[in-house]
Amino acid sequence: MSKILYIKANVKPEGQSRTFKISDKFIEEYKLKNPKDEIITLDLYKENIDFLKGEDLSAVFGPKNDESRNHPILKYAYQFAEADKYVIAAPMWNLSIPAILKAYIDYVSVTGITFKYTANGPVGLCEGKKAVYIVGRGGSYSEGPATMLEMGDRYLKTIFAFFGISDFTTIAADNLDVIGEDVEAIIENAIKEAKETVKEF
Ligand SMILES: Cc1cc2nc3c(=O)[nH]c(=O)nc-3n(C[C@H](O)[C@H](O)[C@H](O)COP(=O)(O)O)c2cc1C
Repeated sequence: MSKILYIKANVKPEGQSRTFKISDKFIEEYKLKNPKDEIITLDLYKENIDFLKGEDLSAVFGPKNDESRNHPILKYAYQFAEADKYVIAAPMWNLSIPAILKAYIDYVSVTGITFKYTANGPVGLCEGKKAVYIVGRGGSYSEGPATMLEMGDRYLKTIFAFFGISDFTTIAADNLDVIGEDVEAIIENAIKEAKETVKEF
């Protein structure tokens, strides 16, 4: 039985996120294909995610003990490390990811839990796991001149690889805010891609 961590980051009210329309379908399809797996939904706006404070750094970088699992920040890192697969759903904000998702990454990037330092540099502790990132974007960044401007996908791919997770797939719905585009068709195509991706996930 696998444990799936479904990480959602969008401030929009229920039912309004195009990104979640696609990611919820991904999860629905995944459940149909893997009914015994456990899915943990982590809606970051409903969690106590905040910017790291000065006093948090000793917990993040210091030694861990039996109490660490109950620590308000470290508990997210343990939860992350104990998952087998990750589904991240977040819209593009200002060429990257919403700040709350970056703050969450700061919570889970913890020495001794998701990565460790060795004589040869840092090593990820989450090897062999896989991730899917589902993103809705106002403009087009998957191809064409704006590709270079996109920093959310590149960032997530890089930080997940840092944790040891190099099996990382992106499903992007581009052009959702471009006047004249068939937005419903774009979402339907992304859902189709999501259903294909589930088969191998
Ligand atoms: C705060 C904010 C920043 C955004 N920044 C960008 C951007 O840099 N590039 C872009 O193409 N779209 C940008 N958008 C548009 C969203 O990426 C787009 O509307 C996306 O489809 C939202 O997905 P959603 O319906 O799941 O919220 C931004 C939207 C918001 C609210």
